[in-house]
Amino acid sequence: MPSLPVLTELSPAEFIGELDPLLAIYADAMGADPDGLPGRREVMRRHAGYPAFRAVTARLDREGPVVGFAYGFHGAGGQWWHDAVWSALSWSLGLTAAAHWLADCMELAEIHVLTPRQRMGIGTRLMLAMTAGRPERTVMLSTPDRETTARRLYRRLGFSDLMTGYSFPGGSPPYAIMGALLPLRDPIAADSRPRSASPSI
Ligand SMILES: CC(C)(COP(=O)(O)OP(=O)(O)OC[C@H]1O[C@@H](n2cnc3c(N)ncnc32)[C@H](O)[C@@H]1OP(=O)(O)O)[C@@H](O)C(=O)NCCC(=O)NCCS
Repeated sequence: MPSLPVLTELSPAEFIGELDPLLAIYADAMGADPDGLPGRREVMRRHAGYPAFRAVTARLDREGPVVGFAYGFHGAGGQWWHDAVWSALSWSLGLTAAAHWLADCMELAEIHVLTPRQRMGIGTRLMLAMTAGRPERTVMLSTPDRETTARRLYRRLGFSDLMTGYSFPGGSPPYAIMGALLPLRDPIAADSRPRSASPSI
């Protein structure tokens, strides 16, 4: 991309205050049904109260609008996603492996970039900023079980498939559950091409 994105970390309160513009980015990136947005808004608002919540936004410049965001938190028992994935991984990989991946994990809940701003390196930088300095052993996520930009991005950063074709309780299209050890592999640092500076955060 021509210049590095400006990355900003939001407190939980700031994240809740920005929910409407962030939901608009979610709706654009996911092509989401507008009827589902109030429910998604409520889930995001609840997630802001989870432990060690971290949200990062991306702008093309300091004065410009937010063009992408990601958020996550410490995964723990009692959280719907964490409990569902723990149960599924226990069945498919065994209790020891489930504990290895989930007992001390960050859950990466959402990452989205506005469609016209995709393929500029913003998603990669959001992922690296989200996980930088996190104390957890692993980072976990679920993503539609297809060959998508997101899936390739996660693999480049060191994620692997722990389970594929998984339907969440209540029924969902098939998902892949992916996990990586922290810290993530940094494809930008690994790239030998000259780069100007680190993202500001
Ligand atoms: C997944 C997502 C967040 C990634 O964000 P992004 O900003 O597009 O990610 P990046 O730009 O870092 O990388 C994406 C692609 O652009 C390429 N790219 C990055 N910088 C580039 C540049 N300067 N020139 C050309 N291509 C570039 C990457 O190599 C990568 O290519 P690939 O798809 O062939 O693997 C974004 O595509 C998105 O919002 N998708 C829809 C929503 C979604 O799926 N969210 C995740 C749900 S689990």
